[in-house]
Amino acid sequence: MREIPIALTYDDVLIRPKRSTLKSRGEANTRTRLTKKLNINAPLVSANMDTVTEAQMAVEIARLGGVGVLHRFMTIDDNVEEVRRVKRAQSHVIAEPYIVDPEKNIPETRQYAESIGVTGLLVADNQNKLLGILSSRDFLFANGHHFKVKDIMTPRAELVVGSARTSLEEAKAMFAKHKVEKLPLVDDEDRVIGLITSDDIKKIIRYPNASLDKRGRLMVGGSIGVKGDYLERAQELIKAGADFLVIDIAHGHSDLMLEAVAAIKKNCGDVQLIAGNVATGDGALELCEAGVDAVKVGVGPGSICITRLVTGCGVPQFTAVMEAAEVAKEYGVPIIADGGIQKSGDIVKAIGAGADSVMLGSLLAGTEESPGVVMHKGDKKYKICRGSASFTVAHKRSGINQENKQLSEVVPEGVESIVPYKGPMTDIATQLLGGFRSGMSYVNARTVAELQQNVEFYRITNAGRKESGPHDVTAIT
Ligand code: XMP
Repeated sequence: MREIPIALTYDDVLIRPKRSTLKSRGEANTRTRLTKKLNINAPLVSANMDTVTEAQMAVEIARLGGVGVLHRFMTIDDNVEEVRRVKRAQSHVIAEPYIVDPEKNIPETRQYAESIGVTGLLVADNQNKLLGILSSRDFLFANGHHFKVKDIMTPRAELVVGSARTSLEEAKAMFAKHKVEKLPLVDDEDRVIGLITSDDIKKIIRYPNASLDKRGRLMVGGSIGVKGDYLERAQELIKAGADFLVIDIAHGHSDLMLEAVAAIKKNCGDVQLIAGNVATGDGALELCEAGVDAVKVGVGPGSICITRLVTGCGVPQFTAVMEAAEVAKEYGVPIIADGGIQKSGDIVKAIGAGADSVMLGSLLAGTEESPGVVMHKGDKKYKICRGSASFTVAHKRSGINQENKQLSEVVPEGVESIVPYKGPMTDIATQLLGGFRSGMSYVNARTVAELQQNVEFYRITNAGRKESGPHDVTAIT
């Protein structure tokens, strides 16, 4: 009989500890590559699932050093708005601040400010010349239609302003000296060219590890498929400011994928392009040869996946990552290990096996920042977590794309589930990154590259696996 190779997953292996020279896990640096040209400060990527990543999750994970990939099960317009929401969440300089006309009446202006979620508006004429600032304080006592913006704004003569040359340090000093919260930037003709806010500076100080683009905005990715409107979606997402795109389909080692990669490369400039999912060295090789900037690995390891049950296909994730990474390394292409991560130790193993980052679905689906409401069942709280190939998402997708597909033809490869509500994402990320850093210190690694160099794995038995968790006790926390 032909020999059948064994494939392993995270629980089948353990890492051999090494003599460590790290005195604290704080010495371990979690910065890593996301794509050929993009780095992130923590190896965490939130999954492009409709119960995991919309703008709120993307903002929070980028602030913590990782990055989010927005799902695509919405219209292109909504998708674009989600990218913009992330990009507006913080920046060094707001290049296009919201501006209001001096003749506008107050109730209308108040409504406008509320709809865009800002507390202060610059006032300028139709030549964009700065006339004043309208702050939430100005609104307080002015009501009624007889007031116009120009009646209650703080006028130009009383404003402190900067210019294109104003650095963040100078802005900080001006905020401290003049006790203002907004610093409009103007050119020599007094036209508005930007805005620095004290809120943004507070965020820079509060989130020192944030993954930022060149303008100090949070990084975010968009996802696309390989059919229908995918090219238009790709172009619109890039236009809105997405830092990278993920072509994400269940079987990424396919003609459809390679055609889509070629089409994106031809029509979307030099966008950083991640493609997947594959589960083998052969799959990774073809995507690397096609010129992608990162490969996403995982066929069937996800918590909500039933691909392996429905199709009989897949590769246990530890082996899949190792195989793909071995090939991708030759091309300098980073790997994202996608699916099956349940504990921080799995992240250490995935990255030890050669991945550069991990994509997380169900681990984040229960957090405050994931889309969807908190449900109560008895005295417990839950949120929904569903597969992108589940019946519900297929149904949603056919509505968005106006497909006339018979739903009875849908063969789901994912389930819809509930996961315990876990509170704010930052608590989960702190645990995951703390565990990851500890794992690095066990193999004397100060960097992700050192982790990959130093790591040695043992295959373990069922008895070893049992010994690895709490056993022979009743755990109470
Ligand atoms: P975790 O284990 O983190 O996995 O929840 C998240 C990843 O699972 C993949 N995914 C699916 N796989 N059917 C599948 O076979 C699905 O319906 C499905 N939805 C998501 C995806 O790669 C995700 O990042």
